[in-house]
Amino acid sequence: MLIAKGAEAELNREGDVVVKERIKKSYRIPELDDKLRKRRTALEARLLREARRAGVLTPQVLEEGKTSLKIEFIDGQKVKDVLDENCTDICKEIGRNVALLHSYDIIHGDLTTSNMIIKWKDGAGARGDKHVHIFSLYFIDFGLGFISKREEDKAVDLYLLHEVLESTHFTIMEKAWKAVLDSYKRHYQGGDKVIKALLKVESRGRYKLRTKSGRAIKSSSTLHRSN
Ligand SMILES: Nc1ncnc2c1ncn2[C@@H]1O[C@H](COP(=O)(O)OP(=O)(O)OP(=O)(O)O)[C@@H](O)[C@H]1O
Ligand SMILES: [Mg+2]
Repeated sequence: MLIAKGAEAELNREGDVVVKERIKKSYRIPELDDKLRKRRTALEARLLREARRAGVLTPQVLEEGKTSLKIEFIDGQKVKDVLDENCTDICKEIGRNVALLHSYDIIHGDLTTSNMIIKWKDGAGARGDKHVHIFSLYFIDFGLGFISKREEDKAVDLYLLHEVLESTHFTIMEKAWKAVLDSYKRHYQGGDKVIKALLKVESRGRYKLRTKSGRAIKSSSTLHRSN
């Protein structure tokens, strides 16, 4: 059963297994396209495993093909669909997990709330207790990830998450970002340096926006407000 068809990949579910196939792109030179799809597939498998070793939940890689991966199906909900109601707990958990990834120099490369899956523990709904950790958070889609020690690369990873919160979860944005950053700093010793780099990344991002539209954009940034 087809579960998703993105720009780069097609995902089919077969029982407990998801097959992620990187599809051919006709606008790319075939040799290059082939190389790219193989490279991203191999990289994604490697990063899914390394993230797991770092203590971050990711689907298990069951089989690695040249341009496709068979991975464990995670029976849960996209964070995108549940974040607004369970904001603080989930955001703390996001911050802790990104901290874990970054402390192992793993850059996710696409930290959106569609690339995180929440699996509720049995009975969570019945208890209705939102203040206890009654879920597991899984990270997926490492196809744009890489390994880097650079603070700036880690900052860009966080910056994308900030942009996603701002555009997709704007009603809870401030609370969400504060929870992510507080938790990130608490769980990652080098976190302060990354946040300094993040402010530089942001000023560059805003500069780009300003020049693109030809006028200054409203300064409503919540990026620096972590305390
Ligand atoms: N292991 C999994 N278990 C359950 N659902 C999954 C799993 N992997 C992917 N999905 C679902 O399929 C969607 C798309 O998957 P994914 O993010 O890996 O692909 P993509 O965004 O098209 O990939 P890419 O950005 O690498 O081209 C996810 O948002 C999620 O809803
Ligand atoms: Mg995705």
